[in-house]
Amino acid sequence: MSIIVNEERRIFLLQTLHNSYAFGVDDQGLLRHLYWGNKIDAIDDFEMPVLAEVSTNDPVFEITREEFPVYGRLRYKEHCLKVTFADGCREVDYVYENYKIENHKDYDELIITLKDSHYDLYITLHYKVYGDFDLMERSVTLRNASQENMAIEQLQSAQFHIPYENLNFSNVHGHWGAEQQRFVQKVSYGKVVIENRRGISSHNHNPYFILDRDASETQGEVYFGALRRSGNFSGVVEQTPYGETLVQMGLNDHDFCYNLAPGEEFSAPAIICGYTNQGFETMSHHLHHFAQAFILDNDIRPVLYNSWEATGFGVTCEEQLKLAKKAKELGAELFVVDDGWFGERNGIKNGLGDWYVNKQKFPHGIDELIDEVKSLGMMFGIWVEPEMVNPPTKLYKEHPDWIYHFANRVSDTSREQYVLDMTREDVQQFVYQMLDDLLTSHDIDYIKWDANRPISQSNLDRSVWYKHIEAVYDIVKALKKKHPHVLFEACASGGGRIDYGILGIFDDFWTSDNTDACDRLTIQDSYSYIYPIKAMRAWVTDCPNFISNRDIPMRYRFHSAMMGTLGIGCNILKFSDEETKLAQEMIALYKEIRPIVQEGDFYRLENLSEDDYRSYEYLKDTKGLLFVFLSHTRIGHRPLTLKLRGLKKDTRYKLTYGDQEIHKSGAYLMERGIDLRLSGDYASELIFISEM
Ligand code: DGJ
Repeated sequence: MSIIVNEERRIFLLQTLHNSYAFGVDDQGLLRHLYWGNKIDAIDDFEMPVLAEVSTNDPVFEITREEFPVYGRLRYKEHCLKVTFADGCREVDYVYENYKIENHKDYDELIITLKDSHYDLYITLHYKVYGDFDLMERSVTLRNASQENMAIEQLQSAQFHIPYENLNFSNVHGHWGAEQQRFVQKVSYGKVVIENRRGISSHNHNPYFILDRDASETQGEVYFGALRRSGNFSGVVEQTPYGETLVQMGLNDHDFCYNLAPGEEFSAPAIICGYTNQGFETMSHHLHHFAQAFILDNDIRPVLYNSWEATGFGVTCEEQLKLAKKAKELGAELFVVDDGWFGERNGIKNGLGDWYVNKQKFPHGIDELIDEVKSLGMMFGIWVEPEMVNPPTKLYKEHPDWIYHFANRVSDTSREQYVLDMTREDVQQFVYQMLDDLLTSHDIDYIKWDANRPISQSNLDRSVWYKHIEAVYDIVKALKKKHPHVLFEACASGGGRIDYGILGIFDDFWTSDNTDACDRLTIQDSYSYIYPIKAMRAWVTDCPNFISNRDIPMRYRFHSAMMGTLGIGCNILKFSDEETKLAQEMIALYKEIRPIVQEGDFYRLENLSEDDYRSYEYLKDTKGLLFVFLSHTRIGHRPLTLKLRGLKKDTRYKLTYGDQEIHKSGAYLMERGIDLRLSGDYASELIFISEM
């Protein structure tokens, strides 16, 4: 049983394989948090502390560990819910009503219902317990059972109590071309806030929290949670004066208001959360396993060729046909035409919104290219940016009111485009129809859905921050229902759109426009803390790299990109015979190893050297891989001692690379490790592991 209840004492205990989470209802009907950490089986040991005021300046609500604090009464801390009722009252005051347990195939769910003491507002807290995954998923639903409107001004998905001070908080910062830059900072008194206010996506922070007590990859306590929502979010971490750290995460209340009509329900996004005392690796494994089991499909992702870096906007049918032939010769399985195939799209200024095939570029229509790609035995993919419109287009001229705008303000363009008001039904219908027509009239297998600017002049309805994303999700879901074979890639000026919300809706995710193989290792490393490897598209592109201006050997570039779902973005028509041969070999090799890469367990190995080695291990069933990189050799002749992880102690393993073959026990490989020395600049090695 993963949910245990002591009815008499009104205590709830949620049990996963290794952990427990406990809370209860006190004699005032208030939900009180009791515990989150390593497993405790005896529910009767949990006690409800007496609610007592310490001093008039430390009111009970401030010092009490509330499970779901609301705005109202003597509360000054961060709250999860603020509602304005029709009569202007801005306080919520709830009492516990009842609980229900539902047993599902994959999880058990505890549902707690609270009701406002005066108004007909019902608050339902959901706790889905994924016992085998050591994870929980929390969410909140509000229901207006009254005859009048209620304005939701803030709704956080959950509050978490972490019973420590001086924790380390980690997330990522970044910007275009530099996504997923992991940072760690000490939490002290006051608050740390990460958020997105851009409406669409953000490269700046990612909607998750990790709090640890000086944990390493393999040891130490880690509390974490990832929000299943795109667009605006906020996460607040607060070390209180009362000896604990609070975390809240959910919809950003910045400029937000949702009118909850009589009879209507509104839900906060779910947050997947967990605890481990085994360090970051276990945290990543729990999340990766969860995503693989419940969010992503089981299909292996194809090797992709994308023509963006080769041609930019200068797309022509003739050149695309040549690229397709060459891509096939190299071993690509999916050919994607990026931006520039439609409307009057010869640069960023025009085209978005006019989704007809450009006649100058494709005089005989785009099917000429699609048919050729298909006859070569590849899948065909196409780029779109459906939420946007350029001012000179027919679409904008016919529907100037379809963009987000304020009547008496200038609408800002960014990348020479406006954002369509996706909260309008006619706009939703247009976007759906355009994509449905594209997929119905052409044999397309893959849509790359881009979004290259944030929302501004966001319109009068302050629920836009929620509704825009909802519309995108709904359109993609509807398209997938009608065209189930089509894969959707989420992209937003590179990697601005990855989160646990879009992860369940789209299938493929562009990690960054920064395709420099060294920079990518940093980006991929951070990405892997939270996101599964199958959701990490990685391309090999030309050198010198357009962002870093760096020249990196092709072998290293391939090894770096083979750590995710492999794509090629080079101008392959310029490949020498030698480059063609190497690319063919690497792609063929990737096809052999990709089940291990895309579905195996991933390990960020410790660098025991003074040199800047990076090494990563993948394990699946009886096989595994080691990727080792050295960007720059320093003075000296020190080998790297590489200690493997996750092996079976008593099993013997064969490690092969180049003409080397090593036979060792799992215990030896994990405890003593192997010595390896790479030399030169941009050196890399791929080592194969197999059980003997
Ligand atoms: C931004 C994306 O990240 C690129 O991959 C490319 O699709 C361009 N947009 C096209 O405009």
